[in-house]
Amino acid sequence: MQAVFNPADPAFTADRYATYRTLRDNAPVAPIEVNGHEAFVVTRYTDASRIFKTPSARVQPHAGQFPQHIGTGPASEFYRLSLPSMDAPSHTRLRKLAGAAFSARAVATLRSRVQEIIDNGIDRISDNKGEFDFVAEFAARVPAEIACRLLHAPMSEAHTVLERMPDLNAVLSHGGITPEKLAAADAAAQFYIDYIGDLVDTLRGKLDADDPVGALLEAEEDGSRMTRIELVITLVGFFVASYHTTLVAMTNAVYALSTHPEQMNILRANPDLAGQAWEEVLRYLSPVHFIHRYAGQAQTLHGVDIPEGGQILLGLAAANRDERFIDDPDTFDIERETNRHLAFTAGGHFCLGAPLSRLEGHHLLRTLPARVPNLRVTIDKPDWGPDLSFAFMRSMTVAAE
Ligand code: HEM
Repeated sequence: MQAVFNPADPAFTADRYATYRTLRDNAPVAPIEVNGHEAFVVTRYTDASRIFKTPSARVQPHAGQFPQHIGTGPASEFYRLSLPSMDAPSHTRLRKLAGAAFSARAVATLRSRVQEIIDNGIDRISDNKGEFDFVAEFAARVPAEIACRLLHAPMSEAHTVLERMPDLNAVLSHGGITPEKLAAADAAAQFYIDYIGDLVDTLRGKLDADDPVGALLEAEEDGSRMTRIELVITLVGFFVASYHTTLVAMTNAVYALSTHPEQMNILRANPDLAGQAWEEVLRYLSPVHFIHRYAGQAQTLHGVDIPEGGQILLGLAAANRDERFIDDPDTFDIERETNRHLAFTAGGHFCLGAPLSRLEGHHLLRTLPARVPNLRVTIDKPDWGPDLSFAFMRSMTVAAE
């Protein structure tokens, strides 16, 4: 198999969207090597969307089989029991139970606390004079505090608890993993399994069923619907799924608005556009670039043979800029009349926390432009980092005056 693009090439990292355009136009199904095996990168919107919705497309290569790169330690235990790595029937059962945590009623119980955490974060940065790092001061702190609030973990521990998350993310990424990274992922997984396990035990009997964690505790306590380790790992999964994606989305929102001042002005004049602006940020600079599925049956797509069990990397960020599906996709336009994107994917694994993310994003973009009117990025060029699946800036210098 001839690889047509190399994700380790710094030129790719520096300008991913140029590569995605080339792939969409010339190699919409592109062979690639990931973690020592072959995979197929899919970059057009309609292909990716269809595969997400194809019932036979699995997240495990074959039932009960897991990729070798996750090893056999605590990180593999986390990987095997977390929702994104499960197929039916286990996924159907656990997703239904976990879905209760993000029902309209459960999310409503979080609304005022989430808004307060975002408002406090804005208060902190609005006092800043001169330049500061938006990631360290706001985007890494606010989602950590919200994740702790969601799980009833002490807010004072938010930063130290969540700072181990990048280590665990290494087993979820499609970038290369080294023995050192796997050892760090194992240590992080063990830490989170112990931390959340202790937390769960202190919460028993204290939460009602409208609370996101209370709904899951109830399912575990009746003994037949969910085991303790499934509960603990589902909650570790909430930490993992909510923290980094939200950190990146908040950073990207400020970057996109600050580098498109006319869009920032439109939003400031009409805060009711905050919801649309959040969706446009997620489309234009999607936090997650690749999600995988395994082919449920052999197929030929755009002339490329994908065997049964072949790994397909679905390019969310690439699909969200596909001119075949989206008008003027490289333009950041918060007033788009329709804005369909795959930033939360589609089908059976569609992001469970999307309602919470939307609550956060809407409040942030409704409030921030008015409260910190002169917020602007002061970097010349973003440093997106090399991870294939999670493209993000480790820091982003801004000034508030
Ligand atoms: C802007 C923020 C977010 C983005 C871009 C995002 C994106 C994603 C993506 C791409 C997936 C993978 C879906 C798949 O495999 O098809 C996912 C799954 C998931 N997300 Fe989010 N997410 C965000 C925020 C959140 C939040 C705040 C939570 C709250 C805990 C959350 C919880 C989950 C869960 C539990 C899953 C697993 C769903 C499943 O496999 O059934 N996410 N998310």
